[in-house]
Amino acid sequence: MEKTLSIIKPDAVSKNLTGVINAKFEQAKLRIVAQKRLQLTTTQAEEFYEVHRERAFYSSLCEHMSSGPIVAQVLCGENAIAKNRDLMGATNPANADVGTLRREYGESIERNVVHGSDSPENAALEIGFFFSKLEIIE
Ligand code: CDP
Ligand code: MG
Repeated sequence: MEKTLSIIKPDAVSKNLTGVINAKFEQAKLRIVAQKRLQLTTTQAEEFYEVHRERAFYSSLCEHMSSGPIVAQVLCGENAIAKNRDLMGATNPANADVGTLRREYGESIERNVVHGSDSPENAALEIGFFFSKLEIIE
């Protein structure tokens, strides 16, 4: 069993999509083993997206990610990292496969519904950013 960090982004939380997104995860046999609703400060969003600091979209992305509540969660299951990336779809909703979360609910490349870790190393770092061991109940 593998774990990955998922974030339901402010654009999706504000549209009341938390439940439909969670249903997709559960239908795909991913278990939500930790979950919390919170609002990041801009500084916290900048820290989370540190790897993108030099990119042109960085400040706008961090503004968006701190603009309203998010739902951070740990998903657990077989190949959870790749499975979640498949459910999410491509970064740009316009290029994402039909049926993926980003294609169904994404407004733009920035407002693209969900974040998902892209490797085991980043999953461990990103889970640790939001959750302590005590909060993850497998
Ligand atoms: O989220 P994902 O791993 O698919 O993409 P990323 O390349 O790690 O980029 C992180 C996030 O930055 C994306 O999910 C988008 O919200 C945002 N982004 C953007 O606003 N404009 C871009 N040209 C690329 C990414
Ligand atoms: Mg990424």
